[in-house]
Amino acid sequence: MDNRHDLQVILESRVPIILVESRDETRFIDLLKDIVTSTSRSGHQPLFQWSVTNGLQRIDIDMAPQPLNAEPEKVLRHIRSVEQPGIYVLLDFHPYLDNPVHTRLLKDIAIGMPDGSRTVILVSHKLNLPSELEQLSARFEMSLPDDNERAMIVTRVVEEWNKAHSGSVAIDQKAFSLLVANLSGLTRADTERLARNLVRDGMIAETDLPAAMHAKYELLNRQGVLSFEYETAKFSELGGLNRLKTWLEQRRLAMMGDAGVSHLDPPKGLMLIGVQGCGKSLAAKAAAGIFNVPLLRLDFGALYNKYHGETERNLRESLQQAEVMSPCVLWIDEIEKGISSGSTDSDVSRRVLGTFLTWMAEKDQSVFVVATANDIARLPPELIRKGRFDEIFFVDLPSPKVRATILQIHLRSRGLDPAGFDLARLVVASEGFSGAEIEQGVVAALYAAHATEAPPATGHVLAEFERTRPLSVVMAEKIHALRAWAADRTVAAD
Ligand SMILES: Nc1ncnc2c1ncn2[C@@H]1O[C@H](COP(=O)(O)OP(=O)(O)O)[C@@H](O)[C@H]1O
Ligand SMILES: [Mg+2]
Repeated sequence: MDNRHDLQVILESRVPIILVESRDETRFIDLLKDIVTSTSRSGHQPLFQWSVTNGLQRIDIDMAPQPLNAEPEKVLRHIRSVEQPGIYVLLDFHPYLDNPVHTRLLKDIAIGMPDGSRTVILVSHKLNLPSELEQLSARFEMSLPDDNERAMIVTRVVEEWNKAHSGSVAIDQKAFSLLVANLSGLTRADTERLARNLVRDGMIAETDLPAAMHAKYELLNRQGVLSFEYETAKFSELGGLNRLKTWLEQRRLAMMGDAGVSHLDPPKGLMLIGVQGCGKSLAAKAAAGIFNVPLLRLDFGALYNKYHGETERNLRESLQQAEVMSPCVLWIDEIEKGISSGSTDSDVSRRVLGTFLTWMAEKDQSVFVVATANDIARLPPELIRKGRFDEIFFVDLPSPKVRATILQIHLRSRGLDPAGFDLARLVVASEGFSGAEIEQGVVAALYAAHATEAPPATGHVLAEFERTRPLSVVMAEKIHALRAWAADRTVAAD
């Protein structure tokens, strides 16, 4: 998109109010100034800039600000009274737009001059125009920098650092290109600011990426229902689920945008259905960890609560935000709670589901969706129809071998050496346990050992296991039904 050309067209169309939602205020003003002053017509239109702090100021030629007109109402009355043509840029006027007097004044200005020779341009990060002004206005969007331009910005920042420190930034080339790719969706100013922070330590390395992605998320976040999860996981923290791990591993290069696999369809996402506490949520975190991309969590429940009546719009905005953060993993935990077929407001949830499925089908950004579900009874059938997700995995209770691994993982993560435990006995004693229940057993055993001031040993864990009535016993029927359902609809994750 050619910013200059587009802005020129809008200016020439003589629409009285132009809305510019942008964080790149300086750059917009520079562009506008450039267009106005290079107009070849005999004598260009005067260009004014207003802010509540500085008042009105002519900026196509150097003139001092007029603090007299700092008040929003005064400046509008002033513009209305002026008879000469002119372009008036109002910076951050958005808080004053819901005042009816201001609205009427803007309307007076817009319709007061039939030849439309006065133009008001509103520049803010976000603009909601009163509806009576809508048809008197047009929106102009500044395009964001592309890959090339972002690479240039980062390079320039690096050169500045080199000069200032008479040294040179240690650049890991792979990290550099990942960084440039991952900053998509940011303005020039934000890209530059972020790059400055990053090279402060004199290097650009892969270890910088998580912080950069988080900073980007903060810049983009508009109190949506997406949350940035700091905690991703490694495969080594997840016992079993080996088929799932292989599946993810095979898609790693494609997710990271590797050119060598550009002929493969980009992965869309997967669904994890299964027994509670067996590692579905942990696997979602591990997907982000193995892809080395940010993990964003979408909370459908919050979507309903927070934005009553505007649910779909906010879902769309959240999904857009995820696209800007791409490549990323979008994690929807317990999706059936958000879009269940039997919920109270079934109309809304049907529309929300529709919005989500349409997005899933059309998205071309690398947003990898991981949805988890515990309760198949509440899962809308259209969600799991073939082709929605790349794969639907069933996460069952861990086998004896996997239970041994899970025990090792949780003993080790608490500083204990698994070799000092009788794993074979513990595996037998934890028959029917979920990963979460095994972990709970280890945690409780540590407390019990601590209380008697003895080092934790097999006996402590055994005692805890014997005390536990696993969910698989309490809910045997439900799990049985779950397995039967999963048999011809899903692939075993392990
Ligand atoms: N397969 C596993 N390997 C290692 N830890 C596990 C496993 N399954 C469950 N856990 C432990 O139990 C916790 C809860 O599991 P979670 O992933 O939330 O289960 P789910 O989402 O399937 O209900 C995890 O954070 C982890 O500590
Ligand atoms: Mg879970």
